[in-house]
Amino acid sequence: MSDSKAFSAPAAGASNGDEPCLAIRCRSVTKAYGTGYARVTALRGVDLDVKCGELLLLVGPSGCGKTTLISVIAGILDRDGGECRVFGSDFQELPAGERTRARGRQVGFVFQAFNLLPTLNAAENVAVPLLIAGVARRQALARARDALAQVGLAERASALPAQLSGGQQQRVAIARSLVHEPRLIVCDEPTSSLDHANGEKVMEIMRAHALGPERALVIVTHDARIFHYADRIAEMDDGRITNVKNPPAAAG
Ligand SMILES: Nc1ncnc2c1ncn2[C@@H]1O[C@H](COP(=O)(O)OP(=O)(O)O)[C@@H](O)[C@H]1O
Ligand SMILES: [Mg+2]
Repeated sequence: MSDSKAFSAPAAGASNGDEPCLAIRCRSVTKAYGTGYARVTALRGVDLDVKCGELLLLVGPSGCGKTTLISVIAGILDRDGGECRVFGSDFQELPAGERTRARGRQVGFVFQAFNLLPTLNAAENVAVPLLIAGVARRQALARARDALAQVGLAERASALPAQLSGGQQQRVAIARSLVHEPRLIVCDEPTSSLDHANGEKVMEIMRAHALGPERALVIVTHDARIFHYADRIAEMDDGRITNVKNPPAAAG
């Protein structure tokens, strides 16, 4: 496993002999914030496997560590202990510049607060991962408009975030997470601001993304309406994964 640092190689380290292809492998992952009296332990030893091609939902009460866990998985936040690999590679082992590039290329992240850039219009926001990857501006904007059309926002490509509703901003953030076709998409409550029809549409698009054999999708949600899209549902409580189960409709 130690020789599989390169994210660019297909399936680098993900499939190891007879072992199934693993998109994510977390073992005993720990994370605390702050020090002394202010210290809060967010992850108390997380074990989690996500298979290639899998859509995993992560559920649990507020404050149990869901956002912290997906941030560690996505390489946005450093863990304190344990092991966490994404398609065989450990973001935390990479030098800073390489890590930023690998993360940008391989991970799409939908933040709970969307994190759109306020001075860029919708298409420009969606184009950001492509521009970072070196795609020419004209081509990046064309692909961004395609991605916006997929989430039903073709007409709003020129709108600034402040001119969009919460649900529309959320769909822009989702388009931005998909546009560069990353291997891993991680979403923090992606359907929370969406009505039923748009929630279904977004889940269909994300589901189609995760179906690729070298892809995976992890979605934090409280939204029972989308449980049936999952391959599996991981339950989290107090900094640990307590159970992983099949979704209601897919059971048996
Ligand atoms: N930046 C931070 N600084 C200090 N404590 C934090 C920070 N982020 C999260 N926490 C704490 O870590 C715990 C887990 O938080 P979080 O991962 O956001 O949970 P969830 O997403 O399940 O609501 C909570 O007790 C929360 O208050
Ligand atoms: Mg959260």
